[in-house]
Amino acid sequence: MQLQEDYISKAKNIFPPTSFFLEPMVVERGEGSYIFDIQGKRYIDFSTGIAVAPVGHCHPRVVEAITEQAQKLICPSNFVLQKTKIDLVEKVIDILPNTLDSVFLCNSGTESIEGAIKLARKVRPGRPNFIAFNNGFHGRTMGALSITGSKSSYRADYFPLLPQTYFVDYPHKINTEQVLEQIERLFETTCPPTSVAAIFAESILGEGGYVIPPEDFLPRLRQLCDRWEILLVLDEIQSGFGRTGKWFACEHSETIPDIITFAKGIASGLPLGGFAANKKLMTKLNAGSHGSTFGGSPIPCAAALATIKVIEQEALIERVHFKGKKILERLQNKFGEYIDVRGKGFMIALEPKTKELDVKTILSRAYNKGVIALTCGNQNNVIRIIPPLNSPDDVLEEGISIFEQILDYEVLITSKGDRYRNKQTV
Ligand SMILES: Cc1ncc(COP(=O)(O)O)c(C=O)c1O
Repeated sequence: MQLQEDYISKAKNIFPPTSFFLEPMVVERGEGSYIFDIQGKRYIDFSTGIAVAPVGHCHPRVVEAITEQAQKLICPSNFVLQKTKIDLVEKVIDILPNTLDSVFLCNSGTESIEGAIKLARKVRPGRPNFIAFNNGFHGRTMGALSITGSKSSYRADYFPLLPQTYFVDYPHKINTEQVLEQIERLFETTCPPTSVAAIFAESILGEGGYVIPPEDFLPRLRQLCDRWEILLVLDEIQSGFGRTGKWFACEHSETIPDIITFAKGIASGLPLGGFAANKKLMTKLNAGSHGSTFGGSPIPCAAALATIKVIEQEALIERVHFKGKKILERLQNKFGEYIDVRGKGFMIALEPKTKELDVKTILSRAYNKGVIALTCGNQNNVIRIIPPLNSPDDVLEEGISIFEQILDYEVLITSKGDRYRNKQTV
């Protein structure tokens, strides 16, 4: 324990307070669906670095690909074509929605959004404005932050951001019609449609609370964009690469964006992101208009190729679709009265319907029982469960059962009053 405490106090001393840590642990190792702290204690990982490990930690095929690549080429060879990068982009185009056939690789989610913002400006010159969504999250660099509407603490003291951004509500507790009315109202009052280059939306709201939009939301947003020649940019940074039981969440409603952004899960934890569009749009990024030293480096590309192959060969998309549905149904049936259980595939959310069910307490109980999960929602009022796509059945069962035990107990307290809490341990 002392070793762990020493590391924690070192961390407090050397990191700025912006990096805060949910649980008092120091991770040293990951294997499959587990992470291990420096004391060797094992945890079921239902957080996966926020949806970053689709094929689990240190998958042998990913490790092998990284090792092989490290022996061949590590340094990105900018201005010289690089084989692994071409192989990867070809593969990514293969799995992207039809018509998205040109890709720019970068190092992170926020960078992929920056690229999409710049591409939108290039494609729609003379249209400086963007529309984005309250509770949407797109990243922390100044452009991405400008279209992020999830928490004002993310934006405080950083103004001026891009001034040409307008926000409307994501369809959570309101329907598509009401969202479109808000956009029409913007068009009538402050932001004419011919001034808008792009609308940025997450296909499923991630950080903002794992909100699954109504089925007609993306198709109708697509129609509205087409009507006014506005680009539709879908952020699949959290929801992409199989997480929702499709390669990309927009496929659930057969919506094809003009630009798609991705990162997180693609390379099993190595820094890689990108944005894709059709060739006609991408040609607007003329020579020198965008770039990145490290974007698409050989080792992340090799890791991404291996990750995608594992997802394909182990039929993980189908598995996630099937298993995710089962887990959702099971939790809905048990706790639906007290908790809004929602999700798609392995992007699962539990939002208590009553204040008495405290998300922090539930998560810290789960941690004590060896399961790590995260919060989301702008008041951190939602639990998100994001296991590796290849989590074995027994690990899923153990992790979900632990949540069930905790929720059973917490629900009991909610219905019987706090006096019950003192008499029981969980
Ligand atoms: C939907 C979405 N977009 C963008 C980002 C930013 O990605 P990154 O942290 O890699 O910059 C995130 C990160 O959580 C995200 O969930």
